[in-house]
Amino acid sequence: MDAEPAPAGTVPGMTEFWHPFADMYAVSDRGATVLERGEGAYVWDTDGRRYLDATASLWYCNVGWGRAEIADAVASQMAALPAYSTFGDLSNVPAERLTDEIAALAPVPGSKVFLTSGGSDSIDTATKMARRYWQLAGEPDRTVLIRRTKAYHGMHTAGTSLAGIPANALGHGDLLAGVAEVAWDDADELRATIDRVGAQRVAAFFCEPVIGAGGVFPPPDGYLLAAREVCRERGVLFIADEVITGFGRCGNWFASTRWGLEPDILTCAKGITSGYLPMGAVLAAPRVWEPFWADGAGMWRHGYTYSGHAAVAAAALANLAIMRREDLCGRALQLEKDLTEAMAPLADHELVAEVRSGAGVLAAVQLRGELVADDPALPARVGAAAREVGVFVRPLVDGAIAVSPPLVIGDAELQELHDGFIAGLDACRG
Ligand SMILES: Cc1ncc(COP(=O)(O)O)c(C=O)c1O
Repeated sequence: MDAEPAPAGTVPGMTEFWHPFADMYAVSDRGATVLERGEGAYVWDTDGRRYLDATASLWYCNVGWGRAEIADAVASQMAALPAYSTFGDLSNVPAERLTDEIAALAPVPGSKVFLTSGGSDSIDTATKMARRYWQLAGEPDRTVLIRRTKAYHGMHTAGTSLAGIPANALGHGDLLAGVAEVAWDDADELRATIDRVGAQRVAAFFCEPVIGAGGVFPPPDGYLLAAREVCRERGVLFIADEVITGFGRCGNWFASTRWGLEPDILTCAKGITSGYLPMGAVLAAPRVWEPFWADGAGMWRHGYTYSGHAAVAAAALANLAIMRREDLCGRALQLEKDLTEAMAPLADHELVAEVRSGAGVLAAVQLRGELVADDPALPARVGAAAREVGVFVRPLVDGAIAVSPPLVIGDAELQELHDGFIAGLDACRG
């Protein structure tokens, strides 16, 4: 039998690139969709096919594609000084400016900013920062980390250990010891777990303000503040993982500000540069940074080669300037409503159990459980069928399919998103 022809825009046989989060047998069999340019909310493949980028790539391209001013800022920084170590007392102008700007936006006044190369780095850093904090604070037994079910905190060893998506943690041997899990939506269980472990042993609680890769679950009413209060009462550090929700996606620079969380530590990445270059950051509130910066604390032996990379910091500064000039946080608040409205009709489709949206520019279509149990490939087929009609959506775990468009998406494009999603669902009916 002849092999099925590869879909348009794919390049069969390009198998030297080992893709992340991929079934490489399937990719090498079918070929990759190779993208070559982007503009606004659209990207184009090497065959010239256009796709609506309804996922902002991996939740990160907040300012949309084709922003020449970011490229120009990077080019001039590249020509002057692309990068130089920031270990010890070395620094560079863009990293200085960027950390000042981010500190001024931080949900807790007086925060300090530790730069990393991405979200997983930020989580690894936060984990070590939390445990080290308790050593410096004279409570070295506080080492236990608490994660939530459905959580995604990246794929370094710390993030994998904190995975509330079981499939993401399996098959890698022993991970970090001293991790407890609580239900993603139950602050009473958090309190009971801290009390069972003993507050004097618990270092930190990790919390995505809106669950992202676990299926896009907005926080239940009152949950975030209740969990925050539990941590405050028991002295446990509250770590907001804002890798997705930071930098505009939830209608504020940080979701923590919008929802009054005052995190002790905040991790971010993605929207900090809109993905034009890779960067992450960890924001430490005064309670946390003060013992590290104190006379006699000595060196914290932690950091990355590219922490404070000058050209990446220049990209971040240009990205923040666009966000400010175009008020993309305000735009996101409006889009939160518009996206909810555009997605709501999908709930009536026969393959769909529910649509989750309304907390930030994030939504998920949940396929009916019995259909996914019968055919675990169904979400991927819906995604592929939507791609065939020119719309990128993102199958996650457990039958959820996410969208998280660039914050510049317009009304006509939201309609196109709706239509493409319906076409993808229709193609997979019975
Ligand atoms: C909430 C959250 N934390 C951490 C990460 C890891 O970020 P990265 O993939 O940049 O390492 C992600 C990535 O999607 C994320 O969604």
